[in-house]
Amino acid sequence: MFKIVKREALVASSVILHEIHAPRVARKAKPGQFLILKATETGERIPLTMADTDAEAGTVTVIFMVVGKSTALFASLKEGDAYADLIGPLGRATDIEKAGHVVCIGGGTGIAVLHPIARAMKQAGNRLTTILGARSADFMILKERMADLADTFLPMSDDGSVGKKGFVTDALKEVLEQDKPDMVVAIGPVPMMKAVSEMTRPYGIHTLVSLNPIMIDGTGMCGGCRVSVGDKVKFACVDGPEFDGHAVDFDGLSQRLNAYREEERTAMEDHKC
Ligand code: FES
Repeated sequence: MFKIVKREALVASSVILHEIHAPRVARKAKPGQFLILKATETGERIPLTMADTDAEAGTVTVIFMVVGKSTALFASLKEGDAYADLIGPLGRATDIEKAGHVVCIGGGTGIAVLHPIARAMKQAGNRLTTILGARSADFMILKERMADLADTFLPMSDDGSVGKKGFVTDALKEVLEQDKPDMVVAIGPVPMMKAVSEMTRPYGIHTLVSLNPIMIDGTGMCGGCRVSVGDKVKFACVDGPEFDGHAVDFDGLSQRLNAYREEERTAMEDHKC
């Protein structure tokens, strides 16, 4: 059992932070790697990329949005409760390099995934521009922490309640024109990662995205997480979750993510009854 030592609702009851006691994972985990969690012995396996780790305290932190039955079950777990199972660290760690000017772009709960990567990029000596996007101020998670890490911080929101009104791509357009980056890391909703990758493509800027396909075993055995990258089929759990944004088939990824929407809706309704 993996005990929750801290629980925080970052956005009302829809975005939850859990700090979980898992000392062996905390010692080994690197930025970009993920966990597979189960709330109960027979529960669904949910992959979540770590938002933080603390090797000394022996804890790992995940931040997730309640989108279905299993994440609703996760959200119902309080401090002192425990996950039945936690596997990790899984996947390849981010290649942290000194590239020069690195632009980190995060949207939604992708900001949580971006957090350790941005920190490692900064520690590696890069100049960091961070662009965050959210519906409104209330939905922009980890804003202060991300602002502290950045040399230039550009928050964007749909309603203008935090930073400028507009999308992350509006801020990226200005950065591309005025202060061309050497590398871009974009993590968030699939349409956002696709749009960012299309914008950086003509500039030839290395663009890293972190994919979140449906996963089952997390060890490259089931094929559930397959994604098309270039002309190859890759398994996000072992080959990723990060890939070259210019080579990812984002439309195929969206289709696969939507494949079980109806089943997810029914399961959520049964859960509420
Ligand atoms: Fe099964 Fe990746 S989750 S192959």
